[in-house]
Amino acid sequence: MNEPNNKVPGLAARQSAIRLLDAVCRRGETLDQAMPAATGKLGNPSDKALAHNIAANVLRWMTALDAMIDSATRNRLADDAKPRMALRIALAQVLILDTPQHAAISTALPLVHGGPRRLVHGVFSTVMRGVESGALKLPEFPEIPGETLDRWTNNWGEDVANAASQAWAKPAPLDLSFQSDDIGALEGTKLAPKHLRMLPTLPVTGLAGFDEGQFWVQDLAASIPARLFGEGKGRTIFDLCAAPGGKTMQLASAGWKVVSVDNSAKRMERFQDNLKRTNLQAEEVIADLMQWEPAEPADAVLLDAPCSATGIYRRHPDVLHCIGSRQIADRVEVQRALLDRTAPWVKPGGTLVYAVCSLEPEEGEEQIEAFLERHDQFAIAPVTAAELPEHIPPTDNGSVRTLPTTLAEQGHVDGFFIARLVRKS
Ligand SMILES: C[S@@+](CC[C@H](N)C(=O)[O-])C[C@H]1O[C@@H](n2cnc3c(N)ncnc32)[C@H](O)[C@@H]1O
Repeated sequence: MNEPNNKVPGLAARQSAIRLLDAVCRRGETLDQAMPAATGKLGNPSDKALAHNIAANVLRWMTALDAMIDSATRNRLADDAKPRMALRIALAQVLILDTPQHAAISTALPLVHGGPRRLVHGVFSTVMRGVESGALKLPEFPEIPGETLDRWTNNWGEDVANAASQAWAKPAPLDLSFQSDDIGALEGTKLAPKHLRMLPTLPVTGLAGFDEGQFWVQDLAASIPARLFGEGKGRTIFDLCAAPGGKTMQLASAGWKVVSVDNSAKRMERFQDNLKRTNLQAEEVIADLMQWEPAEPADAVLLDAPCSATGIYRRHPDVLHCIGSRQIADRVEVQRALLDRTAPWVKPGGTLVYAVCSLEPEEGEEQIEAFLERHDQFAIAPVTAAELPEHIPPTDNGSVRTLPTTLAEQGHVDGFFIARLVRKS
């Protein structure tokens, strides 16, 4: 990219933000995937965080920001045109992040270096006048992008779609999972054993007990799959798709002998850091589950399958812009193959828990229904209310489904589907 001069303070972070948005909107990458290349030149962690925050807020509020931009242009700017991206970045800063107007526009104009700077300046000024006069304003909650909104409304109803918009408006609370019920000096709301919910706090590394490895960050819903195995008492469990290790740490601290498998060497580096900090043990295998196989079956298997990740939209607003029916259908095939391959690794009488952080029934309810039709030696082992966090009841057939309406008053949880199965023979 031909970069303008970098003397404008704060410009480098905005250049990284536009690269992040380009990667998500044009190349279908996630923000996490795009971060290293897009922010690699930023030396300062706070600039990286700013670039991420700007891009994440543009993605969350994109529909409303675009409506404002369109109200101020005679000819609609193309969705992926640089002037639109620069305007989204400038407006998100002023309207959401409370950046002063002059700082937002002085860092936005160089983003269209050699392009229509006057147009960008004109549209920005027109929108700002509209905002100041009260003619233009952001809605109370960001709108879920069209295709996802239609899907969720069809599948779950309008209340759930509205709750998702509300959940999207605020930063998610900080959920911590603890090794034991001793949560030390930290204060918050306890919604389950070994859990504490706090207001979003950064950096987490500064919290008391972090260095000692007493806890790790894990959404309350993400902590449910491992809870369903109970105490391990030295029995063996395969944690399949294990990185970065949230569920492995829960299982190891509940007394399971854990064999953790994941095919991403990069994500397994975070797994290793996590286990080292918490001083927990697990056997680590970096391998593709479609190639690797265990020497013998285990008492329990957790398959935390790769999925569309639409359930973690609050922290990853990019997913709602990248995931459509084609991507969901692709993930369904992968999950089906992983389930069929790994189910025989459960001993007769043993337990299989299947989990996805997805709000798509095809990856959850329908995936397990189809699995049970193919594998009649498995049956649902119903989850009871006593095994679950407060305010998260099991479904009628004994599975777990968390939605944007779940725990809405307490700050919501990620969208998960979880089923516990027993191998009968
Ligand atoms: C939902 S994440 C797992 C999160 C993890 N269980 C935790 O609690 O921290 C899914 C994981 O599946 C892994 N994965 C995807 N396909 C795989 C395969 N064929 N073999 C092994 N791991 C795979 C990905 O690398 C990713 O780390």
